[in-house]
Amino acid sequence: MRTQVCIIGGGPSGLLLSQLLHRSGVDTVVLERQSREYVLGRIRAGVLEWGSVETLRAAGVGARMDRDGDPHTGIELAARNRGFRIDLEAFTGKRVMVYGQTEITADLYAARDAMGGVVIDRAEGVTLHDLDRDAPYVTYRRNGTEHRIDCDFVAGCDGFHGVSRKSMPASVLKEYERVYPFGWLGVLSETPPATKEILYANHERGFALCSMRNPSLSRYYIQVPLDEKAENWSDEAFWDELRRRLPPDIADGMVTGPSVEKSVAPLRSFVAEPMQWGRLFLVGDAAHIVPPTGAKGLNLAVGDVHYLWKALEAEYGGYAGAVRGYSDRALARVWNAMRFSWSFTMTMHRFPEQTGYDQRMQETEISYLEQSDSAQRVLAEQYVGLPY
Ligand code: APR
Ligand code: PHB
Repeated sequence: MRTQVCIIGGGPSGLLLSQLLHRSGVDTVVLERQSREYVLGRIRAGVLEWGSVETLRAAGVGARMDRDGDPHTGIELAARNRGFRIDLEAFTGKRVMVYGQTEITADLYAARDAMGGVVIDRAEGVTLHDLDRDAPYVTYRRNGTEHRIDCDFVAGCDGFHGVSRKSMPASVLKEYERVYPFGWLGVLSETPPATKEILYANHERGFALCSMRNPSLSRYYIQVPLDEKAENWSDEAFWDELRRRLPPDIADGMVTGPSVEKSVAPLRSFVAEPMQWGRLFLVGDAAHIVPPTGAKGLNLAVGDVHYLWKALEAEYGGYAGAVRGYSDRALARVWNAMRFSWSFTMTMHRFPEQTGYDQRMQETEISYLEQSDSAQRVLAEQYVGLPY
């Protein structure tokens, strides 16, 4: 088989890149290791920067998002059980859209099918060859049969544990990482959300987050020790601990119910440089991981896709060498979001070695945020997303 761009990974990055390139007349094949059902079963965050909203619309997959998504004009912060609002739209003129990543992936698969896009699932042993030559190729196995795809370029959209980043020479790759000494215990419940907007709470017992998927599906998180297991937490224990970390009016009014999903996720900051080598480009989680505090994971992936889509569109449009600037452009935006996510994580979480003084420093920073329009503007600009 031959294609122009072979895309490794059928998550949000790979599917969105395939969809945008197809609409720009560039031929692609997506190779996904898991089954489609498995990919669609993943529970992930759901806060979209407006740049992501516009990119999804440009890909022709914005209809359900515009119908079912919930535009938010602000977020809430709290410390010591007292909350306040930051008006994102007033400071930036932009909103964020709450719409689950699972829905986005479903919309992308449907769009790929509608356009006759080639998405090959259960592709095993994907291996990248001759990435530093003019004619790279990819091999894989499916149902016991070996296959080869010859292509012009390879897009590594295969996530943190994928094969693409590992296909770059160690002498070329430089990795930056920080692992945080705690995790997030997340619960999905078929209950009305306790807050109309996303609430981030600092508390001496640990961080808490109130979010939502729709008017009858709530998403909550509490910070837990790194080695904590979801099965150690009954629903009742989760609800009790969550309420202790929130402002009383929200805790008292919270409707609780059985969890339909409960899991612990670790927090990590990670960046791989460069994001391209030869004819391989790294996209999304294959190149970087952010702690979920700033809701940047999916949005950074969409930003990378946007840059690579435009670069390949130009390359095939006659501007030879247009792809050379991809890594530098993507990394500039990645590092900004990395800094914001790290800073917000440091402010909102309780660290194991933290002293009473450290806790007061965090509370003072949050109190200053409450009083200062300048401080709120800085946070709002980062939260809604910097321009592409
Ligand atoms: N061969 C083929 N596919 C692979 C391989 C491989 N060797 N390794 C991983 N994959 C697939 C995974 O099964 C997954 O479906 O690549 C896909 C990568 O998807 P994600 O991990 O979701 O990464 P990305 O598409 O960049 O999306 C980033 O997802 O993890 C969240 O927080 C993250 O919201 C962000 C978004
Ligand atoms: C979520 O809804 O899952 C969510 C929202 C905001 C975040 C992280 C996760 O910062």
